[in-house]
Amino acid sequence: MKFSLKEIKEIYKPKLIPIIWRDDSNTLSILDQSLLPFQKVFIDLKDAESTALAIKNMQVRGAPAIGITAAYGMILSLTSKRPSTLQDAIKELSRAKQILDSARPTAVNLIWATSRMLKLAETYVENGNAKNVNELIQLLKSEAKKIFDEEYEAELQMGLYGLEKINDNDTILTQCNAGGLATGTGLGTALAPVKLAHALGINVSVIAPETRPWLQGSRLTVYELLEEGIKVTLITDTAVGLVMYKGMVNSVMVGADRILSDGHVFNKIGTFKEAVIAHELGIPFYVLAPTSSFDLKSNVNDVKIEERDPNEVRTIRGIPITLENVNVYNPVFDVTPPKYITAIITEKGIIYPPFSENVKKIVNK
Ligand code: MRU
Repeated sequence: MKFSLKEIKEIYKPKLIPIIWRDDSNTLSILDQSLLPFQKVFIDLKDAESTALAIKNMQVRGAPAIGITAAYGMILSLTSKRPSTLQDAIKELSRAKQILDSARPTAVNLIWATSRMLKLAETYVENGNAKNVNELIQLLKSEAKKIFDEEYEAELQMGLYGLEKINDNDTILTQCNAGGLATGTGLGTALAPVKLAHALGINVSVIAPETRPWLQGSRLTVYELLEEGIKVTLITDTAVGLVMYKGMVNSVMVGADRILSDGHVFNKIGTFKEAVIAHELGIPFYVLAPTSSFDLKSNVNDVKIEERDPNEVRTIRGIPITLENVNVYNPVFDVTPPKYITAIITEKGIIYPPFSENVKKIVNK
């Protein structure tokens, strides 16, 4: 049975929204994901600097979520600094954009959101739509809300497309956390079809690899799915091959931090391994991402794969698990070549191979 966007909005309601804008106090409240699932604490961000730091420290993480956060970070730069002229406001926004963009390098949504906000502010000033800084702030607030709302609609639409790939009693393997925590909306990208299926009474379950070193799988995906009453089984990252080999997985659904025009997908470390094994065993491998996660300009070698603190690998949540001086390599994303991907599901439609022809057609639709 097919559902419209309007119908599915009535059927599914997110349980937990991790990014909340508080207009009365010009504050962005974010659920601190570094503490989940043990503590549920919201922290208040009031300027661009603290917003960039929260992104860098992964108190808010996941490509769409950091895009939305950065959009509000641009507004916070104005509400905290209160420039007196429109020219100073544009200078302040350019400064904030630099700080926010440098917080994390791989997810393209961050730079996409800050560029959209800055460009719009420049246009409002040039066209005279904003007559003073207060008016500019109000217009930018509407734009940030629009980014949030568009993201949620895109996820519902991806969820509907993804539903076409799910049958009753399916088990979906994922990676990292590509749910509502990662997008800020409470729904998610890779987890959207699962959540919609569950809401429609379809029996579906998820296998979540723990996703070392930051444990997005065991801390966030498990938490988020159990909150919604969806069956989830936690595995170690090293069990991925076996669960697929044993026939425990019907399809793989992952998110993306950046997708190139030829179909290369940058996502959480471990995604590439899942894709190769799925391809070898004939299991469908789907990537779900909004079109704001596409970068149609870069080549595969241009994209920076973030490397994080070696201590994330030497310890697990502060407890040493190796010798303290061991050399560590800690890349936190990998790249999956297009040949391993069955389809890329976006809000504008499902993209099938050949990706170098079809990505542009759908994304620019
Ligand atoms: O390092 P993280 O936790 O920000 O990485 C998140 C991921 O890799 C997600 O899969 C991706 O951002 C898609 S989220 C909908």
